[in-house]
Amino acid sequence: MSGIARTSATGSGGMLPELLAWSSSFADDLAFVQEDLVGSAAHVTMLARTGIVSRDDARVLRDALRVLFDEARAGALVLPSNEEDVHMAVEAELGKRVGAVAGRLHTARSRNDQVALDLRLHVRDQGVALLGEAAALIATLADRAAEEKDVLLPAYTHRQRAQPVSAAFLVAAWGVGLARAAEVVAFAVERLEMPLGSGACSGTSLPIDRALVARLFAPWVPTQNALHTVGDRDFALDWTWGAARVVLALGRIASDVVDFSTSEFGLVRLDGAIAAGSSMMPQKKNPDVFELVRGKSARATGNVIALLTLMKGLASGYNRDQQEDRGPLLEAGRLARGCTEVVSLALPHVEFDGERGRRALDEGFTQATDLAEALVRKGVPFREAYKAVGALVAEAVREGVGLRAIAEARAQAIHPDLDAQALLALDPAAAVAAKESAGGTGPRSVGAQITWLREQASELSRRASAQGSLETVARRVFAEPLERP
Ligand code: ARG
Repeated sequence: MSGIARTSATGSGGMLPELLAWSSSFADDLAFVQEDLVGSAAHVTMLARTGIVSRDDARVLRDALRVLFDEARAGALVLPSNEEDVHMAVEAELGKRVGAVAGRLHTARSRNDQVALDLRLHVRDQGVALLGEAAALIATLADRAAEEKDVLLPAYTHRQRAQPVSAAFLVAAWGVGLARAAEVVAFAVERLEMPLGSGACSGTSLPIDRALVARLFAPWVPTQNALHTVGDRDFALDWTWGAARVVLALGRIASDVVDFSTSEFGLVRLDGAIAAGSSMMPQKKNPDVFELVRGKSARATGNVIALLTLMKGLASGYNRDQQEDRGPLLEAGRLARGCTEVVSLALPHVEFDGERGRRALDEGFTQATDLAEALVRKGVPFREAYKAVGALVAEAVREGVGLRAIAEARAQAIHPDLDAQALLALDPAAAVAAKESAGGTGPRSVGAQITWLREQASELSRRASAQGSLETVARRVFAEPLERP
């Protein structure tokens, strides 16, 4: 250990190596070493501009940080691994490369506001990437919905066949779920603020310029209160929640595909490019990737719970407990982005079986409500229509036939308004076509949903680029003049 973060007050001889190794966050922190370097470059820029550090010293420091950043991007940066965290490791490495001037970098800064910055930059970068990927999938779902307008299948309630819908409507439902989840991610990213300048817990007496640093990370603004800033992981909660919402939305798509691809449902077919086999059963064609997407929601949800539990009851100010944010926070993005990619790759290999969909509709009495509504259009009170159609269904069940096989005369014996014209409502295509209430499965309605999905996709991409990736921010930071105005 270099002992940077140690004085004679801390105690002589250093921490027991076993304890240091056990408590170090270095290995996890490597996931955001680039964020750390960009954060330090922004900080040293501000120190130069305010005259707290000379321009020449700042130049040496920022150039060295730039070299480290480029090495990190190329995957070639090796940092001393015997430090408490990546912040100390970077400072130790700078010391090796530029000597004593490295001792000026941490002026008016604490690891507490430094880690608060790094993690926010990480959430921003991952959030922006996830938003772009989710937006692309939402647009693909909109296109897919437009292609599946003529395929009909049952919608399910209680996992029992309920009402006829178009496959377009089902795909649009998947898209809306993902769009709503992605909005939570956008919210998490847009709420990020600039924490540097909070110091250990109460700010600094040095004449720093937090607005300048915030501008480098625009559109961020400085956080409000130093004590809250170093103790808070609100942004991590928002992020893990948004990421979990995305995984859950994808998990529902996956669950439909898993069910519908069984021979019991038979509503979709998977092609070989996405199906897995069995090591023993030669006939198997398994939907493993979709099962795994559904399964990942366990860890995505667990990450939210872990962070909530970590922060619950924690006293104000920084507590080392907070280092335990690392696992959930870092995994949240990996899970959400991984699942988004897998679903994007796999969905084009899922084909609807319109033939089976039609058969399921005929066997399932799914047009019963449509028939009742036809009676309502003739002036019959809904409850009376509902009972009449219920009696018709009971009769069909007794005879072992579908509703459409019952003759008009038998139907009219149950209710005089069940005439040939009313019975037209039993045609599934007519039933779907007639459901034009806003948000319904009718073709005009679904068309509006498709338009909405496309708008959401471009709006989410716009919101992502208004934030910008770490790459964008890094370019801005390293190009900022060091000279005092
Ligand atoms: N490794 C620490 C973390 O990730 C950095 C902040 C440590 N601060 C301190 N005063 N020990 O939370």
